[in-house]
Amino acid sequence: MSSKPSLRLQVPKKGTGGAGGAPSTRSGPGIEVLFQRAHEKLSRFKAHLIVLSGKGGVGKTFIATSLALYLAKKGLRVGLFDADETGAAVPFVLGERNAEVLVVEKTKELLPLESRYGIKFMSIEPFLPEGETPLLWEGALRTRFIVDTLSNTRWGDLDVMVYDLPPGTGDEVITIAQVIPPPRFAIIVSSPGQIAESVVRKAIVFAQKMQLPIMGLVENMSYVDCNGEKVEVLGKSTADKLAKEYDIEVLARIPLDPAIRRAHDEGRPIYEVAPGSEIDYTLAELAERVYGLLRVMRIL
Ligand SMILES: Nc1ncnc2c1ncn2[C@@H]1O[C@H](COP(=O)(O)OP(=O)(O)OP(=O)(O)O)[C@@H](O)[C@H]1O
Ligand SMILES: [Mg+2]
Repeated sequence: MSSKPSLRLQVPKKGTGGAGGAPSTRSGPGIEVLFQRAHEKLSRFKAHLIVLSGKGGVGKTFIATSLALYLAKKGLRVGLFDADETGAAVPFVLGERNAEVLVVEKTKELLPLESRYGIKFMSIEPFLPEGETPLLWEGALRTRFIVDTLSNTRWGDLDVMVYDLPPGTGDEVITIAQVIPPPRFAIIVSSPGQIAESVVRKAIVFAQKMQLPIMGLVENMSYVDCNGEKVEVLGKSTADKLAKEYDIEVLARIPLDPAIRRAHDEGRPIYEVAPGSEIDYTLAELAERVYGLLRVMRIL
């Protein structure tokens, strides 16, 4: 029924080398058609959660995957789309770094990757050559990969689709902001410190300009839990200040915890690596909060 993929995009197959050779943007349908298709396909999902920050390394991937994992643990049908083409990390964080995408021969649809923790996901990673070959695609190809993959994947019915975005407000981020239909919400990830604050401000304004409703702010690496006392080792929390200024909610403050690196290295969720810990508790609360807000809005 299915075989290895041969994308219309001519994305190089794993191990063939040549991510530097830009694939043709002219093959396949026009980008407007792909946008329309993606929009229609994604409209079947109940909600879209777009995790963005502007700032690199604040924990977007950690928050996006954790949110997906904890929502799935609650029994929701969850998808996770890795929109970071240069720094794709979702397959690693989910412990599925060797996952292979299959294509349905008859329809040429892609089958989503499946996490052992009950999430359907997609990433550019399985299409790339192994090793350190960097992705040298310019904007149109980055856009095309996202829109093509979103529209051409047989996702099935999903309650929530979570999107992990790269830092900045470049092509991938703009594409996601344009193609994702309502009901869609941005979850802004910040961390303490003035530099993070100024970059996160830009992400908030970006969301506003793109008419992307902001569900709230998650401050990651917010404090270290020292026997119940919250010690702000990276600097004073800016979450309340930002929330007040832009009239958004603080959804969660997540502690700095080495268990997270361990969970990422092992490709396992926090609820397995550090059950009952402060970090487990705050992530479960975050998922509960997001779920509650979607329920209140009668989306779920
Ligand atoms: N609260 C935390 N405590 C400790 N380590 C963390 C925490 N959050 C994330 N990390 C670690 O920090 C690193 C960066 O996290 P992550 O990859 O999620 O950030 P990102 O914002 O997605 O980065 P990028 O901008 O490169 O996509 C990872 O090694 C991750 O394990
Ligand atoms: Mg990331």
